[in-house]
Amino acid sequence: MTTDVLLDCDTGIDDALAILYGAGNGARYVACTVTHGNVPVPLGTRNTLTVLDAIGLTDVPVHQGAARPMAQPLLTAEFVHGQDGLGDAGIAASTREPAGTLAAAEIVRLARSRPGELTLVAVGPLTNLGLALLLEPRLPELVDRVVVMGGAVGVPGNASETGEANVWHDPEAAQLVLDAPWDVLLVGLEITMQTQLPPEALARIRDSADPRAQLTWRLVQHYLDVYEEVLGERTCVLHDPLAMALALDPELATYRLVRASIELRGERTRGQVVGDLRGYGPAPSDPADPGVVRIVDSLDTAAFHARFLRALGA
Ligand code: RIB
Ligand code: CA
Repeated sequence: MTTDVLLDCDTGIDDALAILYGAGNGARYVACTVTHGNVPVPLGTRNTLTVLDAIGLTDVPVHQGAARPMAQPLLTAEFVHGQDGLGDAGIAASTREPAGTLAAAEIVRLARSRPGELTLVAVGPLTNLGLALLLEPRLPELVDRVVVMGGAVGVPGNASETGEANVWHDPEAAQLVLDAPWDVLLVGLEITMQTQLPPEALARIRDSADPRAQLTWRLVQHYLDVYEEVLGERTCVLHDPLAMALALDPELATYRLVRASIELRGERTRGQVVGDLRGYGPAPSDPADPGVVRIVDSLDTAAFHARFLRALGA
């Protein structure tokens, strides 16, 4: 089964892994749109073209988008993803040009042209999606599903004590996405941190002759170094691939609805996704209610890892 996917990303290492995961698990990329985030948006755009071309998806258009957040200065994360955003692994850059339409306009154009058909997968800061919602308030009616890698509900952040990077990089845009009347699945650190690849999986990637595995092995070396330094373990957390996986195969997980909003004013907590986990009163019932999000309750991690390795030929 194939799913028509519009991927918004800030290609980075795990964004690249998400592209590889989707290509091997039924994603048909209608287009990719790119935002500031891990690296400045021109480089993220170049990286997205590079990864797509490396796996033969040379016909997938890539649209450059927002160069900075809506209400704070640009901050990038080369320390996690390498100066080039692809682990400084020397991967030959694509020479293909980005498409002419800018990201937010292209998201609106595609949604209007194919109402109810597209699955939006957002794995970077949400500036492009927020802008698209401002341009076309009907966007929630025009897309089939929206899956976001973002937030840290009830667990520590990564970009700050309480902020997960994608939301933390543009809290105002994240609030626009959460308040829109759609059933948004927010795949946060509360579940992605469980996806660390075990050593035997890394060994299968290392030992595979498949070009996709070999590309992955080159991409993740910098990432493994960072996690060894941060977590004390040479592993790889599959944040963005998990969002892609749940967009393509929702049955890999169970879900629950929670009321959530973004902290916009806290001196220490700006960018936090504040989820109401108290369990007082009836649980929210309508996922399209503004301020209600769907989060993951449980995940079949083994099945996710198996699908990831299969997509790499490992
Ligand atoms: O917090 C993890 C997220 O921030 C991932 O999307 C990663 O690529 C970075 O953008
Ligand atoms: Ca990302």
